[in-house]
Amino acid sequence: MARLVGVTAAPLTYVSHVLGAVAAVLVLVWCIHFRGGLAFEAVNKNLIFNLHPVFMLIGFIVIGGEAIISYKSLPGSKDVRKLIHLILHAIAIVLGIVGIWAAFKFHNDSGIANLYSLHSWIGLGTISLYAIQWIFGFVTFFYPGAANSLRRDALPWHVLFGLFVYVLAVGTAQLGFLEKLTFLQNGGLAKYGSEAFLVNFTALVVIFLGASVVISAVAPTKNEETHGYHPIA
Ligand code: HEM
Ligand code: HEM
Repeated sequence: MARLVGVTAAPLTYVSHVLGAVAAVLVLVWCIHFRGGLAFEAVNKNLIFNLHPVFMLIGFIVIGGEAIISYKSLPGSKDVRKLIHLILHAIAIVLGIVGIWAAFKFHNDSGIANLYSLHSWIGLGTISLYAIQWIFGFVTFFYPGAANSLRRDALPWHVLFGLFVYVLAVGTAQLGFLEKLTFLQNGGLAKYGSEAFLVNFTALVVIFLGASVVISAVAPTKNEETHGYHPIA
């Protein structure tokens, strides 16, 4: 895995926390202030849809990101961090499933077809791969746990595949923001209005969040100077 000369993970994990919090606030302001609020049951079906971006972003992407960086951001023993890593990923999957359920319910209650978009195909693929990754991770590294040599061989694949699925989730969210904003603009929403800026800006924050999570994962905990680089005094 690439080692970034002079870049250690710890400061980047703070960037991830801040961007995650900013993304969470922005999506809540959008769905509650601009889109009328959130509801599991409502006459106005749009309120059910609004659960979808909120759960996907805060539940799946922000909490999933925290799960990935937990090895780098938290103190404590490896075993405790492993437990936190697997629990946070489980929470992310469950909240992601609730978010996808909300999108299906909105479609079904409103008589709209399901699974017609690239966003929905990649989205369903992403959460399925994420669940497979979780099961493999659990069986290999937690219970019953594979033999030491297999764990060692499996770990780089676990990291690589985990980051791939996370990047897919970030990409899916980008498609989702684009799709929803295009629907709204086709329905008359001002192209350069404050809501359009808010949605585009939220999507940008999500890209930076994804980047900071991925770089935190590939950056070393300590500066190991693996490239033999020495700063000029
Ligand atoms: C990783 C995060 C996400 C995943 C896995 C995901 C997944 C899905 C899935 C599977 C559907 C299909 C529901 C159906 O066919 O009934 C859907 C619909 C939808 N999602 Fe997302 N979504 C994500 C994030 C977002 C975000 C952040 C938005 C922003 C508003 C969004 C906007 C939409 C819209 C507008 C639809 C309805 C139109 C369509 O089916 O494409 N999604 N999403
Ligand atoms: C969808 C769920 C999961 C994803 C996306 C994922 C992703 C990742 C990523 C990206 C890393 C690298 C972190 C870093 O180097 O800073 C990692 C490390 C690790 N994960 Fe997972 N993981 C998932 C589930 C699990 C589960 C269920 C377990 C079971 C215990 C697990 C065990 C581990 C272990 C042992 C490491 C190695 C930490 C180290 O030694 O540096 N993961 N995971």
